Parts: sequence; C-alpha cells; structure tokens
Amino acid sequence: MAQLWGGRFTKETDKLVYNFNASIEFDKKFYREDIMGSKAHVKMLGKVGILTQDETEAIEKELDKILKDVESGQLLITDEYEDIHSFVEANLIDRLGDVGKKLHTGRSRNDQVALDMRLYTREQLDETDVELKKFLQEILTVMKENTQTVMPGFTHMQKAQPITLAHHLGAYFEMFKRDRQRLFDIRERMNYCPLGSGALAGTTYPLDREYTAELLEFNGPTLNSIDGVSDRDYLIEFLSALSTIMMHLSRFSEEIITWNSNEYGFVEIDDAYSTGSSIMPQKKNPDIAELVRGKTGRVYGALMSLLTTMKGIPLAYNKDMQEDKEVAFDAMDTVKGCIALFRGMISTMKFNKERMEKSAKNGFTNATDAADYLVKNGVPFRDAHGIVGKIVLYCLEKNISIDEMNLEELKAICPVFKEDVYEAISLETCVNTRLTIGAPSKDAMEKVIKIEEEYLEKN
Ligand code: ARG
Repeated sequence: MAQLWGGRFTKETDKLVYNFNASIEFDKKFYREDIMGSKAHVKMLGKVGILTQDETEAIEKELDKILKDVESGQLLITDEYEDIHSFVEANLIDRLGDVGKKLHTGRSRNDQVALDMRLYTREQLDETDVELKKFLQEILTVMKENTQTVMPGFTHMQKAQPITLAHHLGAYFEMFKRDRQRLFDIRERMNYCPLGSGALAGTTYPLDREYTAELLEFNGPTLNSIDGVSDRDYLIEFLSALSTIMMHLSRFSEEIITWNSNEYGFVEIDDAYSTGSSIMPQKKNPDIAELVRGKTGRVYGALMSLLTTMKGIPLAYNKDMQEDKEVAFDAMDTVKGCIALFRGMISTMKFNKERMEKSAKNGFTNATDAADYLVKNGVPFRDAHGIVGKIVLYCLEKNISIDEMNLEELKAICPVFKEDVYEAISLETCVNTRLTIGAPSKDAMEKVIKIEEEYLEKN
C-alpha cells in the first residue's frame, strides 16, 4: 500500500477501506495526461524560480523516462498504489530521491485530477470528432451515389411521399454534423486550465498559471480556484453530447434493422457485419445495429450517473467525484467504437434500389402530387384532397396503383384529369419537382452535397 499521506496517521488503513478508496484500477487510463500535467507544472516551477534549472531538468527527464517505461511495459502500473498520481510521484521519488519530492510543490491532487480528467476528456473529444468526420465522409459517399434512388419517405411508419436514398441519408448527415458542432462548442468552453487551484484556495507560491495553461494548450487558466477543483460540467456536457450521438445512431440502427428485415428488403447487411443463429440455419441477423441501439442505454446511464453524483456535492472537492471516471471512460470508449463499426456497416451494406423503388410505387406515395395536379388545373385543394381519397379507395379495391388506372377510370371520378396526369404523378416527377433547398430533387440534393463537401473540407 503506497500512500502519499501517512504522516498524521498512527494505524494502517484497513485493507477493505484501501481497496474501496483506491482508484488506480481505472485512473491508470490517464497516466499519459498525469505525466504531461506534471511536466508542465515542473517547467512552470522552474520558470518562476521555485525549482532550480537542474532540478527542473532532472524531473522532466525522469518523467519522460517513466512514461517511456510504462508504454514499453517495463514499468507496470499495479494496485499497490492508491491512484495514478501516487504511482507517478512514488516512482519519481524512487528514481530521483529528494529532488523527486519537490514535484508536488504548489499542487494538490484535487487540481491535479481536475487537470488530468480535463486533458483526457479533451483528447477523447477530439478522437470522437475524428470518428464522426470519417463517418460523415462515408455517408456523403453513399449520398452521392444515390441522388436518383427513389424510395418511400415515411411518417407514422406509413408510406408518405417519395424521396431518394440520398435525401434520407442527408438527414443523418445533418444530425452527425450538428454533433460535431456540439463537440466544438464544448471544447471551447472547457479549454481552461484548473492547475494552480491547489486544494481549493490557490497557493502562496508565485505560480505562473498562464504559463502552465499555455504549455498544455489551454486558452488560459480557470478564474476561480474553488470552481477549478469542483467543476465537472464539461464532462456532463460531453456525456450529453455522446448521448445525443448515440440517440442518432440508435434511430439509424432502428431503420437499418427494419430495412434489413425480410419484409422490407431495402438493404442487405454484409456478411462481415452480420451474425448467424445457433439453431436456425437461414438466419442472418443485424446484431451490430441492435447492439449499437442497445448500448445507447449505457451511455445515457453514464450521463445520469454523473448528474446524480454531482447534484448534492458541496464545494469544493469531495471524494464522490472519483465516481466520474469509470462511467465516463466506458461511455467514451463505447461511442467511439459504435461510430467506427457503424461506418464499416454502412460502407459494406448493399442498397436494394429496385425494392425501394417498387415500395415507393405501391404505397400511394404520389397521392399528394395527384391532388396538386388537380389544384394546378383549377380544383380547390380541399376538394382535390377528397377526390384523390376516393381514387385511393378505388385502387385499394382493385389492388392497383394510381398510375395503373386508365384515363376513363380517372375521369369517371373527376373529369379534370387529362393524359398529362401520368407524367405529373410519376415518381421521378414527384421527386424532381421538389426543388427548394432541403427537398429531395436531384438538383436540390446536388446543391446540398456541394455545401456538405465544402463543410468537410474546411472542418
Ligand atoms: N482519485 C481521486 C479522484 O479521482 C484523486 C483526487 C484525490 N484527492 C483527495 N483529496 N483525496 O478524484
């Protein structure tokens, strides 16, 4: 049991208490950030003259060695240390003796852990953004190939109006693009350095907090030392953004599962991204999409967990806050993994264009356009709506689509119909006359695709 604080104690910590209290098992995940933070701290101590040039260099060099030894597997992070901070400091002292004991001058584990968690979260945020960008590039590739792939658009899970696959996927593009913008906003807000807050009240040493912040690529130091050690808002915001990403992925999953069903057959998930059944030989299951949908709950759980942990904590640091780590780490790893898998699934998935088009044809998705045709020929919209309703009823009885009715049949219900109605209600016309920006026509989609391409180039 290696602890940094034995001085005022007369007894050993109870073993169960030690294990309950220790965090090394999970905070070892940010050993790199802990060392990076310590290096910046030492550099700053050297700059303001608290450490000599020689001491500064010796500590920095040894911290680099510890990092190297951990990464090469030569130095193992074991549970004989209470936490990662103790591990690094104890090893430094082992190697450097008295000089190593100066590392923690003007610092508390409270501002140290606040810094480590922030650095780690910032890194994870950037990695999530990279995954999202690659995913958006993949979505855009499929969009470009499918500006003319007609499919039914749905409301209430009922076929509504014809759209294209590019248009449908474009909706997801917007969602994941907003997710990236959310990450960017969070990064801006969180990018302030808490180091130098001390335990809660700053320190009496003349620390140069601006310099430490600059070394660690923050926009500046945090402005209140109590807040500096107590704040986990940035993590809550990140978990909220991760939850929103999962919500989007989960909706997408739900659609892919439906589209992949025998009844729909809109898509076929690649063998490499499906699994079989142990009993039913014919089965090819969309497990990846189902798992992504399922893991959404666990990411929401992390957000709820941290919100609940934080809600009753008085200022400043309390040990409750150690509970931020396991759930947050799990959520971060889960979301990055899900985005990457989803991208692979989309890039290998087959889109069954004929099935999609046939489905759009059979579902009266051009009924609104038939009504609009009548309006353009002088019939008030409410009357046109009623007339087309009758036409749909007639088609349902005969089990045909509107364009399979002949002109006499149409005229018998409303004499305004002329030969040009067939052109007006063809799926191609229905889609390609929806020309406003954001609508599914090929022209409108191509404009949007260009905007998205420029966005991806710049961001
Ligand atoms: N393991 C602790 C955490 O994760 C580090 C901070 C410990 N500070 C303290 N005063 N006990 O929050």
